[in-house]
Amino acid sequence: MRKPDLPAAVAEAAIVLIALGLACVAGFAGWAIGHYSRSGTSKTVNAAGTSPSAAASVDPQVAAGAHIFVQFACAQCHGEQGRGGVSPDVPTLTSVAKELKPQKLRSIIDHGLGESANPTKPYMPVWGEVISQTQVSDLIAYLRAGLPNVPTAEPPAIPQGQGPAVEGSVLYVRYGCINCHGPNGLGGVPNPQSPDKTIPPLSGQDFRKEFNTDKKIIDVIRSGSVIGRAPIVSMPHWGGIIPDSQLQALAAYLKTLK
Ligand code: HEC
Ligand code: HEC
Repeated sequence: MRKPDLPAAVAEAAIVLIALGLACVAGFAGWAIGHYSRSGTSKTVNAAGTSPSAAASVDPQVAAGAHIFVQFACAQCHGEQGRGGVSPDVPTLTSVAKELKPQKLRSIIDHGLGESANPTKPYMPVWGEVISQTQVSDLIAYLRAGLPNVPTAEPPAIPQGQGPAVEGSVLYVRYGCINCHGPNGLGGVPNPQSPDKTIPPLSGQDFRKEFNTDKKIIDVIRSGSVIGRAPIVSMPHWGGIIPDSQLQALAAYLKTLK
């Protein structure tokens, strides 16, 4: 006879039921907390018990602008939150939206500024073919809001002690090369008015043949290369902005590509 097992089975079932019930209550409480904190004010504490990030109080368009500002490396030339300090040739942007009307800002971002046939200094790149009109509107909203701090709108951290190719692969994103030259340097970003109709790849046989030394690669990154006037997109001038050791790392990374 296995009579004694019966109460044990009942007890077991009861425990399972209680556990399930608790899980439901906890689940509901979690849902409720999450639910109310989303619709609540910035003082609400979220389900994890941490205080909400300041992002909750940033206008979504301004937040989008802050992320685009980092993604397209505006921050690498104009400084974090446009505060300058990178190069004497690149202005701060902290008060530019007070001085210039939105249309003027749009025109500068789309068409660039200060570009010359033989640039020896950084110039404002032409972005019109690369950045969408929505993204430019977001950037302008961010400039007009005074370039507030938006949590997580930060460039990727540079890996230390893992060799130049690894460092270069992150710099390729950090300096926004990827936006124009594509992931893995595959190219393909349209540049309709240019002779090639696209921004060139940084991989493949043609690239390898023409840029067969580190020096050639580094020289063109440093100097940039103006193919024509806006709306044609040219290669920005990075001399005075990207330090030499990082130029070496970028060259090391580009040599690892297909
Ligand atoms: C390669 C470096 C570089 C990058 C990247 C860059 N800029 Fe610029 N930008 C410049 C330089 C240099 C100037 C000044 C040009 C001049 O006055 O001749 C400038 C000027 C400007 C101006 C006009 C400032 C004024 O006071 O007249 C605005 C606005 C601006 N940039 C916004 C942006 C935004 C937005 C981005 C990102 C989409 C960006 N820049 C990315 C170098 C850069
Ligand atoms: C705004 C778009 C843009 C950005 C950002 C950009 N480039 Fe370029 N790059 C170009 C264009 C356009 C050319 C073609 C210039 C030419 O044909 O003279 C070019 C050319 C080059 C070349 C020479 C390749 C060739 O076939 O002419 C190298 C190398 C290069 N870029 C590396 C980089 C690196 C590294 C970065 C990031 C630090 C970068 N580029 C960022 C647009 C860009």
